[in-house]
Amino acid sequence: MEKKLLTAAKHAHGRAYAPYSKFQVGAAILADDGKIYSGGNVENAAYPNGVCAETSAISAMVLGGARKIRAIAVVAGGPKLVTPCGGCRQRIAEFADPETPVHICGPEGLKTTFTIAELLPASFGKRNLKAKKAGLNPKRARSRTAR
Ligand code: THU
Repeated sequence: MEKKLLTAAKHAHGRAYAPYSKFQVGAAILADDGKIYSGGNVENAAYPNGVCAETSAISAMVLGGARKIRAIAVVAGGPKLVTPCGGCRQRIAEFADPETPVHICGPEGLKTTFTIAELLPASFGKRNLKAKKAGLNPKRARSRTAR
């Protein structure tokens, strides 16, 4: 993992707004434009309106004009691995390839790396919608399989 990706995720971890859970998370994305986009979790007194660090970083990337995640790093404290929640796995997958690395880190550095396909196997994605448009759904084309 690039050092500047970890540095950006650590910075976001420090800036995260998590007064309710007291669990700050930072995320940083290396995008296909070579830039790094970061975000932290931003909680809210109306609890369900809080957003995760990964989602914040994806928003920053999209608004910055990039559309592809080359790598993403997540930083959180504590001894346990903090992997992205289910919703964030789906949001990462939208902008990633199956082999895109998801680096799980603590403030001290890298703990382990998963691919997004490991974190979200057999996922639903844009190819499923394309298969439907192309008439590859099982009702219309029983003998064809599209994965
Ligand atoms: N959280 C993240 O931002 N990313 C993760 O990968 C796991 C959880 C946030 C959501 C909430 O603000 C806090 O951590 C506790 O769940």
